[in-house]
Amino acid sequence: MRIAVNTGGGDAPGLNAVIRAVVLAAHHRGWQVYGIQRGYEGLLAFNGVVRLAPENVRGIVHLGGTILGTTNQGNPFRYAVTDADGTRREVDRSDELIAAFRASGFDALIAIGGDGSMQIAWDLACKGLPVVCVPKTIDNDVECTQQTFGFDTAVSTATEAIDKLHSTTESHQRVMVVELMGRNAGWIALHSGISGTAHIVLIPEIPFDIDKVCAAIQAREAAGKHYSIVVVAEGARSVGGEVSLLERRGTGTVDRIGGIGSRVAQMITERMDKEVRSIVLGHLQRGGSPTTFDRLLGLRFGGAAVRAVADGAFGTMLGLAGTSIVRVPLADAVGRQKLVPLDSDIVVTAREQGISFGD
Ligand code: F6P
Repeated sequence: MRIAVNTGGGDAPGLNAVIRAVVLAAHHRGWQVYGIQRGYEGLLAFNGVVRLAPENVRGIVHLGGTILGTTNQGNPFRYAVTDADGTRREVDRSDELIAAFRASGFDALIAIGGDGSMQIAWDLACKGLPVVCVPKTIDNDVECTQQTFGFDTAVSTATEAIDKLHSTTESHQRVMVVELMGRNAGWIALHSGISGTAHIVLIPEIPFDIDKVCAAIQAREAAGKHYSIVVVAEGARSVGGEVSLLERRGTGTVDRIGGIGSRVAQMITERMDKEVRSIVLGHLQRGGSPTTFDRLLGLRFGGAAVRAVADGAFGTMLGLAGTSIVRVPLADAVGRQKLVPLDSDIVVTAREQGISFGD
């Protein structure tokens, strides 16, 4: 057996753990593994297929990023090309990709990615490509898995940042607005906001009213607490408002979300006699060494992916369900987002602890 493995979309701590587990579990069966570099680009745009032997995956479990490289562009079904006259358009290069895959003699693909990569994998599976998916994203927004690897590390980083902001914010009696990643889901903001004892947490699932945010800050002032930490998920929006975008992109990729933190800071400044600062934690949440949880989940997913290939369980995605790794039909996971349920015990717990969601 010759297995191909790739990593697509934004990187997430734990990717290298999956790659290592795939290589070692395959080697254990006498199979060969090849890495396709930068998503599918290693087959479409350049000669980027590398042999991954056990010695190539030594000492990588604790490393962030991905040894294969990644991209959140280069969707083979909506591949961006620029004509000689500068016109940009999309072409479908999926047949070319499948032909290159077969010409390389691969028997199966293990695709490690988030919602975008999962959709590509499903579309390839529908065209007959034998694929098993491993869900990855710091955003934790993939359906059919309790958690994705990368999320725990991102939450730890964000929590540490919020912890550090308490002392400076309190010393200056300021309001500090912290913008965190997560796209359209509030998981990172919710988990780190409550763990870092933020006072206000704004998530996409609960549109906020800025007057209620200010009222929560005012209530703290009245109680003699002259500082407040406001955690804002990048996808949060006010009631009736729009998600704040940094860049609208077309051609086979997604818009860049961001900027809500400084907007919320501005809105508070306009309404209150308080000094307000804002900070965007940004890609720090994607970097660094994966936590033990993310390493172990990555390793378990990698091993389970090879077992799924061995069983011919193609068109499936692996998921974490309780303490088990399960196989779910890829069709059930694509095109959907796992958002924070409003009746989740974490939301209820936050409310009980006096955290405001600005609603
Ligand atoms: O999906 C992961 C993520 O980090 C999101 O939280 C964020 O909106 C996006 O990727 C950022 O993407 P980029 O690396 O293109 O800036």
